[in-house]
Amino acid sequence: MAIINNDKYTQRINWHLSKYPDKRSAVMPLLYIAQEEYGWVSPEGINEVAQLCDMDPTQVKSIAGFYTMYSEKPKGKYWLQVCNDLACALRGADEFHHDLLHHLGIEEGGTTDDGLFTVEHVMCLAACDKAPMLQCNFHFMENLDMAKMKAWIEEKRAELEKENS
Ligand code: FES
Repeated sequence: MAIINNDKYTQRINWHLSKYPDKRSAVMPLLYIAQEEYGWVSPEGINEVAQLCDMDPTQVKSIAGFYTMYSEKPKGKYWLQVCNDLACALRGADEFHHDLLHHLGIEEGGTTDDGLFTVEHVMCLAACDKAPMLQCNFHFMENLDMAKMKAWIEEKRAELEKENS
């Protein structure tokens, strides 16, 4: 569904647009909204944000492409960004990342067949003392181990099953 003329987002969109004298300044928060709706920064989302900000879609796309917080390809419902930068690697993040991919049966950057989980590694997220850690849809999950992850994954799969039943 579109973000323009969508009651779910109208208030937030207007609030962001009203904060700045130039609509273009709202491009980044509006890209987050588009990503929230589509699960990634899709061509539809780019066009809508461009329309809202009075910008050319090419300009909006170049902004989305510059920042790692925006995904330019479809992701699973849960976008798991595992930090395996040096400090986390010293606390077992590489093994954790490897084991997580193995458990989900995907490659780095891949998404599970049920569309629930995408895993990719990222650089320091500034929670080095809480490794292994990851960012799930921009929320930190810290002091992880595979037992905790497996339980969490099962919980999310059960929720999906319930939604679909
Ligand atoms: S090195 Fe992973 S959060 Fe800093």
